Amino acid sequence: MKIDLHKLYTGCRSYRRFRQESIPQEVLQEIADTARMRSCALNGQVLRYLVISSPDIVKKLQSCFRWAAKLPKEIGTPTETQQPTAYIVVLKPGKTHPFTDIDAGIALDAMAITAWSHGIGSCILGSINRKFLSEAVKIPAGFDVCMVLALGYPDHKSTIVEAGTEDTLDYYVDESRDYYVPKKSAADIITYL
Ligand SMILES: Cc1cc2nc3c(=O)[nH]c(=O)nc-3n(C[C@H](O)[C@H](O)[C@H](O)COP(=O)(O)O)c2cc1C
Repeated sequence: MKIDLHKLYTGCRSYRRFRQESIPQEVLQEIADTARMRSCALNGQVLRYLVISSPDIVKKLQSCFRWAAKLPKEIGTPTETQQPTAYIVVLKPGKTHPFTDIDAGIALDAMAITAWSHGIGSCILGSINRKFLSEAVKIPAGFDVCMVLALGYPDHKSTIVEAGTEDTLDYYVDESRDYYVPKKSAADIITYL
């Protein structure tokens, strides 16, 4: 049986508003475990994952992230009742190899698609108040916060649209605050020889 991963990836957009419904622990375990099994440079397995779903810690992290830099704050930032219900913090060792961030990208994408296979939306977050986060949760010695994956059951839609000829690739929202994400055409960015 063919698994239609292309279709799955098409729906696996960034989600920034979530229903306040907790994600089962075994699903969070599966999401993080996918990252553990993915390819990494030299099979070094230098990354660590902090899975946060305790409501009090999730709440503490509310002000830690910059959401949707392309939208006004009042549009793109989830309110108190739209927050993610879990986070996976990707930690990297203080001393990194040039491939460490690539390992993190592979892990984040693997976790995002695994989450989406359960109908769980995510947003990769790089714009993080790392000092605040490191103080709010216990980061193991020798590790730094690399990236965060926010998780939750989506409370909005997000659709890919073909980018126009104008320069902007900025995502936008409609009156229901559903997202539209322009992507360049395949012809513009893929060459077959
Ligand atoms: C490396 C990386 C960092 C990102 N950081 C943030 C962030 O800090 N805040 C945010 O709201 N979205 C962040 N995003 C999500 C992007 O804005 C999003 O992927 C982009 O707008 C395209 O939308 P799509 O994921 O639906 O294709 C990040 C994505 C990546 C891959």
